[in-house]
Amino acid sequence: MKILSIVGARPQFIKLGPLSRELRKQHQEIIIHTGQHYDHAMSDLFFEQLEIPVPDINLETGSGLQGAQTGRMLEGIEREMLSHKPDLMICFGDTNSTLAACLAASKLGIPSLHIEAGLRSFNRSMPEEINRVVADHTSDLLFAPTETAMNHLADEGLSTKSVLTGDIMVDSVRFVQARLDVDHSRQEGYLLITLHRPYNVDDPVKLNTLFSLLSKLEQPMIFPVHPRTRNIIEKHQISLPENLQLIHPQGYIEFQGLLKGCSKVVTDSGGLQKEAYLAGKPCITLRPETEWVETVEAGWNRLCDINDPDLATIIQSFQPTGKQPNLYGKDVAKTMVEEIEKWFELRD
Ligand code: UD1
Ligand code: UDP
Repeated sequence: MKILSIVGARPQFIKLGPLSRELRKQHQEIIIHTGQHYDHAMSDLFFEQLEIPVPDINLETGSGLQGAQTGRMLEGIEREMLSHKPDLMICFGDTNSTLAACLAASKLGIPSLHIEAGLRSFNRSMPEEINRVVADHTSDLLFAPTETAMNHLADEGLSTKSVLTGDIMVDSVRFVQARLDVDHSRQEGYLLITLHRPYNVDDPVKLNTLFSLLSKLEQPMIFPVHPRTRNIIEKHQISLPENLQLIHPQGYIEFQGLLKGCSKVVTDSGGLQKEAYLAGKPCITLRPETEWVETVEAGWNRLCDINDPDLATIIQSFQPTGKQPNLYGKDVAKTMVEEIEKWFELRD
């Protein structure tokens, strides 16, 4: 098969890594990078560390308003699809790159697979929620990471094209585990913080309040900062607690090292909520809802408003003790490639 994988943002490179490796054992893969993320530390570094081939095409879309950014990608992706005529297009997650990929494929009648299907926050003010719904409804094959995701797909009448495969990030994490023992971890006991959701970081007042709430904590905090968030901090000269260390976005290996050494995670990232669970670290998620509800149900993830006056106490006191059931599967890339091959045979 000739497969076109489309990625554009950091979490998608992480998901592509293990799948690409498995796909290339039997099939031809062409990688399109939309260029949504472009800094070395947000893009190339992940290709290097996860040993993913350099993308065949980079559309160099760059940043922009939702519509402008998606529109530029759509035009470029359509052009490449017409030129390469793939048997299957694969896209991941819920970014604008996902949306553009699915729209282009469905208009051209190119068979498409959406990985990480069925996630719902039921919060339509998130651009990601719109992207997910469109991706699931326009794709021909849906790989859901969890039972909850399968149920959402069933509720929307999409069961016949849905398969429960587990979560591909299980394989991404396992891939870097082997490289971690070199020791990238620092001293133990710090909080690991990441934030990039527009509703949390685009309002400097909210961000300022967050840092004053965090300043009540005495333990060290390490915050590898997303460029979106850094821009706001710098533009508004927001002051940081003394025990909070702002560092550049980290490579995947270094970041997993930081995760290994931390005491708890504070985040609004989707991927990190799962990785915290897999690493056995308590996670405080600064959002009103999450798509990864099973981590909350298992007792290892706690939702909290970013400006909750009790934030410091909540972070300090959150101490999950419950067991950690296997929520996300095992050898997921292999399962996915088998399911792709089965699906393709049945179509012929
Ligand atoms: C995007 C995704 C989000 C995902 C996140 C992962 C959408 C709508 N959002 O959010 O779902 O969780 O990626 O990180 O697709 N910037 C740089 N350098 C870069 C990339 C971005 O400086 O390499 C800055 C630019 O100022 C840009 C801003 O970050 O305007 C936001 O980037 P963008 O890709 O639009 O959205 P993210 O917040 O990264
Ligand atoms: N990550 C990383 N370096 C960092 C911050 C995050 O490698 O400095 C990884 C993290 O391990 C997770 C992914 O990036 O797998 C999450 O990406 P992000 O938070 O940007 O997006 P989301 O998952 O929320 O869509």
